[in-house]
Order: sequence, then structure tokens, then C-alpha cells
Amino acid sequence: MRTKYYKLNAANPDPAVLAEAAALLRQGGLVAFPTETVYGLGANGLDAQAVTGIFAAKGRPSDNPLILHVDSADKLSALAAAIPSSAQALIDKYWPGPLTVVVARQPIVPDAVTGGLNTVAVRLPDSFIARELIRLAGVPIAAPSANTSGRPSPTTAAAVLSDLDGKIDAIIDAGRCKIGVESTVVDCTTPVPTLLRPGGVTYEMLLSVLGEIEVDPALAGSAAVPKSPGMKYIHYAPAAPMFLVEAEPQQTASVLRREVAQAVAAGKTVGAVVSAELAATLPRRVIAAVYGSRADTGVIAANLYTALRSFDDRVVDVIYAEGIAEQGLGLAVMNRLRKAAGYRIIRE
Ligand code: TXA
Ligand code: MG
Repeated sequence: MRTKYYKLNAANPDPAVLAEAAALLRQGGLVAFPTETVYGLGANGLDAQAVTGIFAAKGRPSDNPLILHVDSADKLSALAAAIPSSAQALIDKYWPGPLTVVVARQPIVPDAVTGGLNTVAVRLPDSFIARELIRLAGVPIAAPSANTSGRPSPTTAAAVLSDLDGKIDAIIDAGRCKIGVESTVVDCTTPVPTLLRPGGVTYEMLLSVLGEIEVDPALAGSAAVPKSPGMKYIHYAPAAPMFLVEAEPQQTASVLRREVAQAVAAGKTVGAVVSAELAATLPRRVIAAVYGSRADTGVIAANLYTALRSFDDRVVDVIYAEGIAEQGLGLAVMNRLRKAAGYRIIRE
């Protein structure tokens, strides 16, 4: 199939283009669209057949459930069998925004969306284009990140097209996504809400509303069975094997330099996913993808997937990534880096 390409001005999007894309969604088509986190691959979330198309285009395992995106908070009650007080409190504070709540589902939500679970994940994005598209479609939109399963999530239309061109009906290009890592996923069906995936709404922000929150053991990389089916797959991975250096802040740079030097000495072509500060101290022949300054975690999150994807067309034998502190967005960044590294972690 030919993928239709729509270019939109994020500040002043053309309503006719949004209406055309919304019509494609209503007809059962697949449309990639920007959100404030990453690009999503949308389909009518109440149409099991359309949703099945998402899994086929991405090569996604069918037991990994999707998030339903709504255009206003009052749409949640049509999808949720009950809205726990924890979910309501989080929604009041952080919607629209990079927060997904998991709640008991209504029968109207197809099994294709939930992977057969009796819960459903719902999010109200902050992106105006995303909300307008959903509003015009008139249905909740199921949308995973718009990448081939296992690849880094896309934060630009070019990244979407490099994975999905010819496999989807259309893409809306409105430039780079602001946050750069996916939404925070919180299971609100447990007595104490459980953080399933760290994201744009930080752990500290959740705690300030909830007072108490459990963290899914899978986030620590343990062998426990993850509650969020998506957590069990290797994700976000570049083509070459990657090692993540997680040392004390003062030691990370020297440990990474040592590992790089050994690999270079062994004749390897070495890549590095690092801060600007560390990049400046690496041997010239190392191919560095700089994710930003250590001083600004928001910028690191925004650049992370582009840095990982930069090794798609630069052949390296091995990649070393610099870990950062797990405060604020750092928790989400480290979660994605650990998965991208397939949990090959160098700790000292
Ligand atoms: O920021 C985002 O959330 C992006 C944009 C497009 O909105 N979407 C996204 O979707 O990251 P996806 O499919 O790549 O990740 C959804 C995550 C997966 O880890 C999945 O397992 C989890 O949410 N999830 C979905 N439904 C769930 C449920 N009922 N219970 C537990 N986890 C669920
Ligand atoms: Mg994804």
C-alpha cells in the first residue's frame, strides 16, 4: 500500500487534513500521528479488525495490549467499568498529559485491544493534533508507539516511515515530539496503585498525588513476571549489542572510557550513547551519539530514541551507553536504556 503523507504545522494545523485522517480512522485504516511523548500508530479502538491491523503492521505479539486514547476525560467512563479514586486523582492532576491509567474494562472494549485482560489502559494526550484527530474520528483510538516491534519508539515522522512506510494508510508529520519517552503507565486496580512503566509523569509527581505507590518488580530488571505484558519484551534496541554503564555518578565516565578503550584496542568499531560532557573526552574514532547535557534530563529524554536510532545507518560492532541518575525523567530514561541494552549492564 502507498502511505499517505500529511505535513501539519503544529501551531496551526489544517482542519481539512485532520478531517481526512480522521475519516481514514473511521473507515478502519491505520494512521500514525504525533503526541507529546512519541508518534502513535492509531486505529479505531472499538473495531477489533482495525486493531488487528496494528499488530500486523508492527509485528507486535498479540498478547501485548494497547492504550486507548481519548479526546476528553469524560470519555473514560464509557471504557472503564469503575474509576478508582486513585485513577481519578491522577487524572484530575495530570490529564491531558503523558499518563496512562489501567482500570477495569467495559465489555465494549475489544479483546484485541486488551490482549484478553479484563483491564484497559487509557490516556488523554496533551498534543492538540492528537486530541483533534481523536475528536474528529469520534471513537477512542488504540495507539501503540509507531515503530516496528522491538525497535526504538519514533519521535519524528522520518523514524516512523523508516519502520512502517508502505504498511500503514497515512502519517501526520507535525515535527519532533516534545517529551521523547512514552507515557507513564499506572495500574489503578491494585489496592496501592502500581507503576508499570515510568514516563513523562515522574515517580515524584505520582507520589505527590497518591502518597503511596508500588513499583512493578520488572522495572528493576528482576526475573519476576511483569504485570504489564509489554515489559517482558526486549524493546527500544539498536542493531548492535549495547552495554549500559551504571556506576556512581563520579565514576561512570571513567568506567565507560575504560570499556571503550579496551574495545578499540581489540580492533572494534565502537559507538557511544553519551552526554556532551563525556563525548568531549572520548577518543576521536569512537562514533558518539550525544543525547544532551548531563545537566538537563528533559533534553536527554527528548533525544534518547534519536540517539539510539542513529546507529541504524552507522555500522558499529558494539555500543556503550552512559547511565544517568534516576531522578525525575531519569527513571524513564534508565528503564529504556536497560531494555535497549537487553540488561547487559556494567556496574561498578
Ligand atoms: O506515550 C505513549 O504511551 C505512546 C503514545 C503513542 O501514546 N504509546 C505507547 O504505547 O507507548 P505502547 O503500546 O508502545 O505501550 C503501551 C504499554 C505496554 O507496555 C503495554 O503492555 C501496557 O502499556 N498496557 C496496555 N494495556 C495494559 C493493561 N490493560 N494492563 C497493563 N499494561 C497495559
Ligand atoms: Mg511501544
